[in-house]
Amino acid sequence: MIGQLTLEDYLQRYSETGPLALAVATAVDAITVAAIEIAELTGRGALSDKSGLATGRNSDGDLQRDLDVQADAIIRRCLGKVPIAALASEEMQEAEIGDREARICVAIDPLDGSSNIDINMTVGTIFSILPAPDDPSLAFGQCGTAQLAAGFVTYGPQTSLVLTLGDGVDIFTLDRAAGGFRLARRALRIPDTAEEFAINASNRRHWDPPVRAFIDECLAGVDGPASRDFNMRWIGSLVAEAYRILSRGGVFLYPSDARPGYGDGRLRLVYEAHPIAFIIEQAGGAASTGRERILDLAAHSLHQRVPLIMGSSGEVRRVEELHCDPLPAASVSAPLFAQRGFFRL
Ligand code: AHG
Ligand code: MN
Ligand code: MN
Repeated sequence: MIGQLTLEDYLQRYSETGPLALAVATAVDAITVAAIEIAELTGRGALSDKSGLATGRNSDGDLQRDLDVQADAIIRRCLGKVPIAALASEEMQEAEIGDREARICVAIDPLDGSSNIDINMTVGTIFSILPAPDDPSLAFGQCGTAQLAAGFVTYGPQTSLVLTLGDGVDIFTLDRAAGGFRLARRALRIPDTAEEFAINASNRRHWDPPVRAFIDECLAGVDGPASRDFNMRWIGSLVAEAYRILSRGGVFLYPSDARPGYGDGRLRLVYEAHPIAFIIEQAGGAASTGRERILDLAAHSLHQRVPLIMGSSGEVRRVEELHCDPLPAASVSAPLFAQRGFFRL
């Protein structure tokens, strides 16, 4: 099965389970066709005329790079042949209404981690597929639990699709010689406890006390409350962090912080946190704001941001505990490492 089953056959079998499944399978197939083209483009790096150079800012105020715009255009061209009631993208101010008779809506982050393009690090495409409500303009105000499917493609050493259709998480890797994706990993499960945490530690002074307390527990290692040592990773590419956590466990935090504009963190609910949360939960992990389950949230605006803590369920639950039952301020403000100089206040 591993290495034998093609994505095409996998989607064909799924599509035979009903008209809604056929609509989902058709959209996933179109996104993977786009992904092969995006993989080629990102793989050319500076050799392509579409570099990682910034061209402006997107609707969310983020730096927009040529490849962000190119990836968005490629996906929309490939999805253009698929009946979709509404399409939302990080690179588009408003959602586009399409075929009002269509059964599904799609939200995309065409290129995630794009600040990594010019340093040759793994980037990716994230997508979320939802049922089409009677009024397609309400499509992206649905709870994350409404999702029918979610996935992301990594453009790194491998071009791999991580996919959930609501019954577990499977990984398909692009067989470049054959020009198609083949099953590489089946039914992924995230360990309940983590050995690694991922956070942009340069923002420590801006974090809320519960996040500081959790990271200090990780840093205290085997001598601290967690009674085990942790390793740290921060790639700056959500898809790469998610792929690592699906492969070997861990916990990722992009919390809200005190920087202007980061009161709800950095990641967007509709086309980053919702799809990643669906995948992580389908693999036995958890995804939270620190106080609420991500999938229980419904966006009130398309580019709404949300704090995201996701990965091994034991660590996510500990972060929630610290939010709901904060440690006494003294124990958090007395930094574990001030005397060691690891984190100077
Ligand atoms: P995008 O490139 O789509 O804007 O996403 C980037 C996100 C996410 O991939 C990553 O985890 C995070 O931004 C990194 O943020 P910092 O640069 O603030 O560390
Ligand atoms: Mn992103
Ligand atoms: Mn993006």
